[in-house]
Amino acid sequence: MNEEQALHRILALTRELNDHNYRYYVLDRPIISDQQFDHLLSELTGLEHGWPHHTQPDSPTRRVGGEPLEGFESANHATPMLSLGNTYSESELRDFDQRVQKLLGRTTPYLAELKIDGVAISLTYENGELVQAITRGDGNRGDVVTANIRAIPSIPIQLRGNDWPAKMEVRGEVFIRRPKFEELNRRRLENGEEAYANPRNFASGSLKLLDAMEVKRRGLDAYFYAWNQEKSTLGDQEEMLNNAINWGFPVCSHNSGAGNLELIFRFIHSWQTKRESLDFDIDGIVVKVNSYADREELGHTAKAPRWAIAYKYKTQAASTHLISVDFQVGRTGAVTPVANLAPVWLGGTTVKRASLYNEGEIERLGLRLNDRVWVEKGGEIIPKITGIDTSTGERGREAIHFPQTCPSCAAPLQRLEALHYCFNSKNCPPQQLGLLEHFVARKAMDLNSLGKETLELLWQQGLVRKPADLYDLQHDALSTLERMGKKSAQLILDGLSASRSVPYQRVLFALGIRHVGETIAKNLAKHFNSIDLLASASLQDLTSVHDIGEKIAEQVVSWFSDSENMLQIERLKRSGLQFSAVSENEPDSNRSQKLMGLSFVVSGVFERHEREELKSLIEQHGGRVASSLSNKTNYLLSGSDAGPSKLEKAKALNVPLLSESEFEQLIA
Ligand code: IVH
Repeated sequence: MNEEQALHRILALTRELNDHNYRYYVLDRPIISDQQFDHLLSELTGLEHGWPHHTQPDSPTRRVGGEPLEGFESANHATPMLSLGNTYSESELRDFDQRVQKLLGRTTPYLAELKIDGVAISLTYENGELVQAITRGDGNRGDVVTANIRAIPSIPIQLRGNDWPAKMEVRGEVFIRRPKFEELNRRRLENGEEAYANPRNFASGSLKLLDAMEVKRRGLDAYFYAWNQEKSTLGDQEEMLNNAINWGFPVCSHNSGAGNLELIFRFIHSWQTKRESLDFDIDGIVVKVNSYADREELGHTAKAPRWAIAYKYKTQAASTHLISVDFQVGRTGAVTPVANLAPVWLGGTTVKRASLYNEGEIERLGLRLNDRVWVEKGGEIIPKITGIDTSTGERGREAIHFPQTCPSCAAPLQRLEALHYCFNSKNCPPQQLGLLEHFVARKAMDLNSLGKETLELLWQQGLVRKPADLYDLQHDALSTLERMGKKSAQLILDGLSASRSVPYQRVLFALGIRHVGETIAKNLAKHFNSIDLLASASLQDLTSVHDIGEKIAEQVVSWFSDSENMLQIERLKRSGLQFSAVSENEPDSNRSQKLMGLSFVVSGVFERHEREELKSLIEQHGGRVASSLSNKTNYLLSGSDAGPSKLEKAKALNVPLLSESEFEQLIA
């Protein structure tokens, strides 16, 4: 393909992919499969790689780019982001209607919209292009989070059509859909990390991240409901929403125009229960005067517009009996108390269990067995006990004792911050099984022929206790197991055999080292090209890697200093699993292995390269960069102004100095 043809194809693919995104996110009517989309996207990525200067500004590949930020700048809103008057009562809603009628001297139609429970955001578009995104902040001034907002796939970077105002400010709500949130939390728990509290906090926390790549991974979404422009030509809210859709903004489709309040009440009541069926959280209904001219006439107070009000749903609560408390041991050994409740109907489902999180929570609530308790379903997915229902006057008598020993293996429990842990990980059945389940998971070794039940069976039969045991399984032993035929046995063996080509970073994740989730495993694999390098890395080596803090580094070091774990690695290695990075999927010809196994510290100012550039060169050539000198450092790459303490330490540790030009020769 020549350059002209490439440009042609790049333009066509960019347009086509943006169109598919629009159909998917805004119209909710995709016409191709995700797979077909990915196929086109990878074609575009390939062409852009070959002809980078032809990459279009609105290319779907261009959402995330650049370095992580150091911090956020702040900026003023063009017009203040007001809040809304709130009410929980119908009579106050009638008062609102009366006020509106009195001020206008007549009735006026309303539009009721869902009140999305997310984070407010204000976007500025100039000539159809997204130029700035600001959080609400104090209403007048917020943080500039443009890079993060670009990482949200449903938010348009370039508007469709051409009839948009030259400059406009659009407001809406960023949120996460519940299935996505639950998936992320499931993964966190699997990795021994604490779950995110609720979708709203998650969304607002995500916008404050300094790394847009991570924002992208989090799969946020957005709905827009307002825009300001210098001179408004708009008739009403419905017209505005329709325009917004045509220009490519995702808009929540559930709204209802109403000439009178009774219809609004009907909308409110129907969504009170229907909201359970949405895949995102709402916390109420916003009632707005539809006409822009009428809004103008009504104006606003210092805090909120007079033309709108939020009717908020009360959090749903029910009262029921606490029957007993189970203590569950998770994969990481954390012991969680779980309440067994007399079944109670709450927000569309029957609730029988609720998490009690930890001992502190039981103490905070002052809970006893047989108490009547309030159960709530708020933003959180798992219902929680929010207090004791004292209205009946009866209280439970029996105190709840947190066990001193593991309910599964009887090892003594240890408290670390808020949680109790069983540290007998190698012999504690739920931890062993949990590790096996983690090992076979899709994102790990992807052994889908080994389900939870099969693993339990293998465990009970004593055939498999540790991941390495899986690779010793024989056809005969397998096929004689209950409910297992020759065919399923063969499937398992085939799966195990195929898992030998699972790449190093996923094998690393599969090992189930505490705090080493998918992303961390990826980072570690990138910096320590083989498990041997990782196993011998010091705390300092580890913390010099992007995103690896002390907590993670300590877990990694302690995991590799355990001889039983090292034995597992040896056995898995002998079984043929991948324990080093293959660079075949890195076609970048600038890469080499010239610095493989060498560790560098970079200090000072250089003539021909920025310091960060040198660091990335070292990594591109297979070397490692540490932040401070140790006896594992091979070279101190020093420029002018290198820190005197570093030079001294290098001398003391016998670490040779390397100049910029010597370094260049090394990688030439
Ligand atoms: S209209 C002048 N419409 O609720 C404010 N707000 O409690 C106009 N919200 O700050 C806001 N869904 O972040 C409006 N359909 C909707 C909304 C909505 C959620 C948020 C918004 C606002 C907050 C007020």
